Amino acid sequence: MITLKTEREISLMHEAGKLLASCHREIAKRIKPGVTTLEIDRFVEQFLAENGATPEQKGYKGYQFATCASVNDEICHGFPRKTELKEGDIVTIDMVVNLNGALADSAWTYAVGEISDKSKTLLEVTKNALDKGIEQALIGNRLGDIGHAIQSYVEPQGFSVVREFTGHGIGPTMHEPPQILHYGPAGKGLRLKEGMVITIEPMINEGVWQSKMDDNGWTARTMDGKLSAQYEHTLAITKNGPLILTEQ
Ligand code: MF3
Ligand code: CO
Repeated sequence: MITLKTEREISLMHEAGKLLASCHREIAKRIKPGVTTLEIDRFVEQFLAENGATPEQKGYKGYQFATCASVNDEICHGFPRKTELKEGDIVTIDMVVNLNGALADSAWTYAVGEISDKSKTLLEVTKNALDKGIEQALIGNRLGDIGHAIQSYVEPQGFSVVREFTGHGIGPTMHEPPQILHYGPAGKGLRLKEGMVITIEPMINEGVWQSKMDDNGWTARTMDGKLSAQYEHTLAITKNGPLILTEQ
């Protein structure tokens, strides 16, 4: 069932989201060649604890970490690990923050040191794709308008949109209906209503959109081994337009 959130619920989720945004700003300072994603994961857990919050992903369906850390051809749900990041890598850090029972979900792709022009373009297009989706998150629009805005922006530039993973409603639990597809026709699907809180989180690939699953049963990577990037915000549908909860 799709639940509509009260102003009070949205403001509590916004507090969780602001904390998440400040955590991402701290991560940005720490990502550099030689750092491991396990160190970043430990930092996140400690940072959240110091701020009275918990990492909602840890323990979710048996997931072991505070963050997902997806490097280069990993699309999502990469495990933090002891391998050092190296110059030219891209890494997506995704997390869900629980602050006093209110959740917020946001992912960001970071450049490790100096990255190639191609990687820079992928990051730029992926961030713009998120913004194009958010622009459509208006009362009365349909879910398909979000997906269409993203797909029709991304594909003409030669990149592709991952289909197996979607955005989602979010509330007291991390994943609620509806699913938010990042592709598809405009004008179709559910109408957006005031009080819905959703994530938009396009995963954009340099090559084909298809993915394959690692043996760990979690990590998805691109079928062709090319790069994948992702930006994700949690946002509320309001009378004044989309309210992004995971930035200040
Ligand atoms: N944060 C992810 C999302 O965007 C969920 C990760 S699954 C988990 O929906 F198991 F790692 F939590
Ligand atoms: Co999400």
